[in-house]
Amino acid sequence: MSLPTTAPVPVHSPSDSAAARATGLSKVYGEGETRVIALDSVSLEFGRGRFTAIMGPSGSGKSTLMHCMAGLDSVSAGSARIGDTELSSLNDRQLTRLRRDSIGFVFQAFNLLPTLTALENITLPMAIAGRRPDQRWLDTVVGTVGLSGRLNHRPAQLSGGQQQRVAVARALASRPEIIFADEPTGNLDSRSGSEVLGFLRDSVRELGRTVVMVTHDPAAAAYADRVVFVADGRLTDELIAPTAESVLDRMRQFDAKGRTS
Ligand SMILES: Nc1ncnc2c1ncn2[C@@H]1O[C@H](COP(=O)(O)OP(=O)(O)OP(=O)(O)O)[C@@H](O)[C@H]1O
Ligand SMILES: [Mg+2]
Repeated sequence: MSLPTTAPVPVHSPSDSAAARATGLSKVYGEGETRVIALDSVSLEFGRGRFTAIMGPSGSGKSTLMHCMAGLDSVSAGSARIGDTELSSLNDRQLTRLRRDSIGFVFQAFNLLPTLTALENITLPMAIAGRRPDQRWLDTVVGTVGLSGRLNHRPAQLSGGQQQRVAVARALASRPEIIFADEPTGNLDSRSGSEVLGFLRDSVRELGRTVVMVTHDPAAAAYADRVVFVADGRLTDELIAPTAESVLDRMRQFDAKGRTS
């Protein structure tokens, strides 16, 4: 019997513990006339090994929620935790280390460096941190992302969907506890969008990661295990095992309520 050179990464089953948790989380920007309550005492958990979508109107606080929970922005009140770590208890160095080791972030713009190859982009954050990537994990990520034949291409030689998959692979490379993706398919056509969404879902199902994704698209939200709805800085609703139809239905109900209230 011949053994595979790289043992398969075990399939993880979702557990009940939270990968990230917000408790009474509030975020206020500005003062006086320009004061905006972007988040108003939000409490929620992102279950480990789950794929959660966040939806809500423009300006409702979705990006702010992700930034506060990923330690990219400070909170005004309440708490944000990654695993068991309370972010406000960390000093700048500890926070930088936590962000580097435990959190991946994917933005709407791919933010790849044009002069580096796909593989160099994927491993750049680890190179900056002076850390050697776990080769078995990296192979698994690159295999899952479906870019094995494209690793030596530069971003300009890749389609939008491929570039965003490189960005997702980069977010996964350090094997973070949780990946936050803010409208990762916002700049993509529907086919490239499906590629990226499929990969995010595989990151959860096959690689055991936790993914939180902001989207405006009911079809994209349907890739998630759960959708939470945000309006005016508050959680308003959630759907488990969403379909594009059930998400669209819920959005129509909000619109109807908005018109009558
Ligand atoms: N740095 C900032 N300074 C001041 N106000 C801000 C800042 N960032 C966000 N806001 C305000 O906070 C509120 C929530 O913004 P946020 O970016 O979280 O919305 P969003 O739900 O992500 O919207 P979109 O769907 O358009 O991306 C908005 O009223 C916005 O104007
Ligand atoms: Mg936003």
